[in-house]
Amino acid sequence: MPAMAVVGSGGGSVDGGKLTGQVLICSIIAAFGGLMFGYDIGISGGVTSMDDFLIKFFPGVYVKKHRAKENNYCKFNDQYLQLFTSSLYLAAIVASLIASMFCKKLGRRPTMRTASVFFLVGAIINAAARDLAMLIIGRLLLGAGVGFGNQAVPLFISEIAPANYRGGLNICFQLLITVGILIANVINYGTSRLHPNGWRVSLGGAAVPAAALLIGSLTIVETPTSLIERGKLDEGIRALKKIRGTDNVDTEYEEILHATEMAKKVDSSFQSLMNRSSRPQLICGTILQIFQQFTGINVIMFYAPVLFQTMGFGSDASLLSAVVTGLVNVVSTLVAIFTVDRCGRKVLLIEAAIQMLVAQCTMGATLAIHLKSTNEIPKGYALFVVFLVCFFVAGFAWSWGPLGWLIPSEIFPLETRNAGFFFAVGMNMLCTFLIAQVFLTMLCTMRSATFFFFSAWIVVMGCFATFMLPETKGIPIDEMNERAWKKHWFWKRYFSDEDDNQKVRI
Ligand code: BGC
Repeated sequence: MPAMAVVGSGGGSVDGGKLTGQVLICSIIAAFGGLMFGYDIGISGGVTSMDDFLIKFFPGVYVKKHRAKENNYCKFNDQYLQLFTSSLYLAAIVASLIASMFCKKLGRRPTMRTASVFFLVGAIINAAARDLAMLIIGRLLLGAGVGFGNQAVPLFISEIAPANYRGGLNICFQLLITVGILIANVINYGTSRLHPNGWRVSLGGAAVPAAALLIGSLTIVETPTSLIERGKLDEGIRALKKIRGTDNVDTEYEEILHATEMAKKVDSSFQSLMNRSSRPQLICGTILQIFQQFTGINVIMFYAPVLFQTMGFGSDASLLSAVVTGLVNVVSTLVAIFTVDRCGRKVLLIEAAIQMLVAQCTMGATLAIHLKSTNEIPKGYALFVVFLVCFFVAGFAWSWGPLGWLIPSEIFPLETRNAGFFFAVGMNMLCTFLIAQVFLTMLCTMRSATFFFFSAWIVVMGCFATFMLPETKGIPIDEMNERAWKKHWFWKRYFSDEDDNQKVRI
């Protein structure tokens, strides 16, 4: 089964390591996987709102969109159009399971390299697409790339980062996701003027971050953990010296060796994940990803231009508004990098839940009052909705966005860390798929109530963050059980002496 060993058992468990140039460069190159992922998130919405693209692949949607009397909320409702966006995530779920085995057997670096090759081929097929089948095949390949990349990149960064910098470097992955989304939005804005093949440039552009990751992955080191895990002890120690910039790595080397030996004793990390004492982390890690997606963020990321056109904006204004939201996303993620270790995780999650709730409810109410089936929303209100979207995105970007990835990567004990993280990634892809697949239909049937649907989720997640989530700020990753879970008013009941003894035996 997936790489059982050791997210964070490398630098992750050693205190006080320095942030060397090697670590920084390797992390940035690896984070190009985030750029690939983000580019794809951002590109789909803009492309599906371009007339040239609709005429070629979805002529029915094109006709509906331009029919004066067409219901505002249903203009874009088309199963195939949704499948275009969501098929990627379906492929990514399967791919990440395969990637987790690949990662363990062959290492993190070849897994990233494979991700970039999938992505490169997918981008080329999409750019050259002559029919819907080619388009979907290209999307499935991109999905395989995302699955391989998202499994390997966070693992890679966690394993090479010194403990004190793990949180910051981890959020850099999210930062590059948001940069990818922004670049995609800007490119869409430019290519929407290139008739009739601008969409080809947009889709083909995915090849650039993929090529960068491919070339970069030829130059970076494999993680010492992965080398040691696969019995390449000499290479492992050489890699460790290189990334730490010193020959004095004995303690860390011993720790990695110990961690990999411990991990080898656990027959199946998936089995140990089913133990009673693993339930708190499994439930919280998985549920955070469900909540992350049910904030409704990808409604905005995928469909912002479509949403803005629904409100009566022209294509240009819609794409421009998507660029603005993309910019807000990047800047607000920077806020997370600087506050997460000072203010803590819970404060950010709770504050953002309130902020997102206000934004979603006000957006729903404004659309309910001002956007009927066939009218055009007054300009002032449309701009107000754009402001609300930015307000919502800012809240997400400094909380549920990065923390949806960070927290699952830091709450599991070593023996279940990889399997647990795999569940979190898989859940993210599954929920992203669901939202991408049903949102346009929801908008058509539920209309503005769609936004109240997400508001209800936000209330639940705000309560969850307040009462059920332990604070993990500043707690060393390997002391999480003792200092976070066993002290929590609810989750402590999952840890009995018997469980502790069982762990010792393992
Ligand atoms: C989420 C994506 C989302 C992105 C937006 C990520 O953390 O997993 O689904 O599109 O943030 O910035």
